[in-house]
Amino acid sequence: MTVTQSTPEAMFIDGKAIEGASGKRIPVFDPSTEEVIAEIPDASASEIDRAIAAARRAFDHDGWPQTTAQERGRILFRIAEKLRAEAPQLAELESRNSGKPIVEAEYDVADAATKISGTVNPVPDNALSLSLKEPVGVAGQIIPWNYPLLMAAWKLAPALAAGCTCVLKPAEQTPLTALRLAGWLNELGVPPGVVNIVTGFGETGGARMVEHPHVDKIAFTGSAAVGKLIMKSAADTLKRVTLELGGKSPNIFFADADFEAAIDGALFGVFINQGEVCSAGSRVLVERSIYPKFVEAMTEKARNIKLGAPLDRETKMGPLVSREQCDRVCKYQQIGRSEAKVAIGGGQPAAFKRGYYVEPTIFYDVDNSARIAREEIFGPVATVIPFEDERDALKIANDTPFGLAAAVWSRDIYKALRMVKAIRAGIVWVNHMQPTYVEAPWGGYKQSGFGRELGIHGIDEYLETKQVHINLNEQPIGWY
Ligand code: NAI
Ligand code: MG
Repeated sequence: MTVTQSTPEAMFIDGKAIEGASGKRIPVFDPSTEEVIAEIPDASASEIDRAIAAARRAFDHDGWPQTTAQERGRILFRIAEKLRAEAPQLAELESRNSGKPIVEAEYDVADAATKISGTVNPVPDNALSLSLKEPVGVAGQIIPWNYPLLMAAWKLAPALAAGCTCVLKPAEQTPLTALRLAGWLNELGVPPGVVNIVTGFGETGGARMVEHPHVDKIAFTGSAAVGKLIMKSAADTLKRVTLELGGKSPNIFFADADFEAAIDGALFGVFINQGEVCSAGSRVLVERSIYPKFVEAMTEKARNIKLGAPLDRETKMGPLVSREQCDRVCKYQQIGRSEAKVAIGGGQPAAFKRGYYVEPTIFYDVDNSARIAREEIFGPVATVIPFEDERDALKIANDTPFGLAAAVWSRDIYKALRMVKAIRAGIVWVNHMQPTYVEAPWGGYKQSGFGRELGIHGIDEYLETKQVHINLNEQPIGWY
C-alpha cells in the first residue's frame, strides 16, 4: 500500500485504538520528500500510565505469565507468520517512513521461539534445589528509528516468550510499522494489555515509563546520552535496565586480506542503511602497506553508490531519517573537513532539491583522537585510519569509549583469532561485517551498554531466577 496523504494514527492500549486525549499530534515525515505522511498522538502522562496499568493488570491478574510456553510460542509464531505474509507492505511502509532503501527494508523481519528452562542445583544435602526462571514483569521498551519494525520485534518477542507484558514506545520519527503491527494483535490472539504501543516523545512519554514504579524493566536502544539518563532515573525504582547504545566500531583490514572482498566489506560495513546502524564500521583501520591502494579503491567504489528515492529498487542509499539527523551528520562532515583529508563526499549532494540526503563520505589520514573517530556520527561517514602492525591495530581498535562491534579481515587465522580474543567488543566478525542472526547474542561492552538481545541470551534478560529448596528429610530441623 502507499500512504498518499497524512493519516492520523492511534496508539494501542489495552487492546484498543486510543487517539490521545490531549489532541496534541506529532507529524511523521517521508524523509525523501520532507512531506508529512501521518500524524501520531503525543501521549500524555495519563495515557502512558494507562498503558502501564493495562500491562500491570495483564501480568498480575489476567494470567499471561501463567500461560504455557507452548501457548505463548503459538501466539509468537502467528505474529511471525503475519509479519511474513505482510512483509512486502511492511517493507514499503518502513522504507517510506525511515528512508531506508526498499531492498534493505525487506530483510528486517524476525521471529523468536521459546526455550526457557530452569536447572537443578547440586546442593550438599538431602534436598532438591531448583532454579526456576520467571518473567521479570512489565517491560517498558524504548526503541530508535533506524530499524523500526526490527527493533520492535527484537524487544517484543523475547519479552512475550518469557511471559512479560510490554509497553513499547517507538521513536517519534518512525512509529508507523509498529502501529500497523499493533492493529493485528487482537486477531492474532494477544490478550488485551499484554502488548501496548504508545507514541510520543522520549523526554516526556519515554521518561515517564522509566520513572514509573509499576514498570519492572526498561529495555532501551538509542543514544549513549539518553542511555545514561535512563540508568540514572531507573535507579530510583531499581528497575532492571538493558541498554544498547551504538558505538564507533573498528573494521580492521590486514594486508593479507582478500583485497576485493575487503573493499566491499569496508563500504558495506559503514554505508549500509545510510550509516544509521549502531554497529556501523565507522572506523576503517587499514595496514600501512596497503593503505594508499585501499583508500583509492574504496573511494572509487564509493563513487558508484546510488543515492535515490527509498522505494526505487536501484537505490543503495536513501535519505537520513530526519532533518535533525541530517543536520547532525552535516555538522560532523564539517568537523571532519578540519580534522582530516576528504577522499569523497563531505556534504550534501547537489542533485536533490528535497529530502535529507547526505553524500557518502570518506575521511582518510584520520587520527584516532579526532572527534570524527571518537564520537558516533550515525550517518554515511567513514574515517580511515592507518596502522603499522597487529599490536598497533589492536591498540587503536580498543582506544574508544565504545565496544559494540568490530570486524577483522585477514587470511591468517592465527592473527585473526588473536584479534578476536583481544578486542573489547560484544560482537566480532571475521572476514565480514554486519551479518546478524536472531539465534546469536547482540549487545555491547563498555559504553555501548549492557545486556544482550536475541537468542536465548535475549530472553534471559526478561527473566528472574527463583531459588527453590525442597527439604527431603522428614525429621525436625533439630536446632532448638
Ligand atoms: P535518542 O536516543 O534520543 O532516541 C531513541 C529513543 O529514545 C526514541 O524512542 C526517543 O523517543 C527515546 N528517548 C529520547 N529521550 C528520552 C528520555 N529522556 N527518556 C526516555 N526515552 C527517551 O536518539 P536520537 O536523538 O534520535 O539520535 C541521537 C543519536 O543517537 C544518533 O545520532 C546516534 O548517534 C544515536 N542513536 C543510536 C542508535 C542505536 O542503535 N544504538 C539508534 C538511534 C540513535
Ligand atoms: Mg534524542
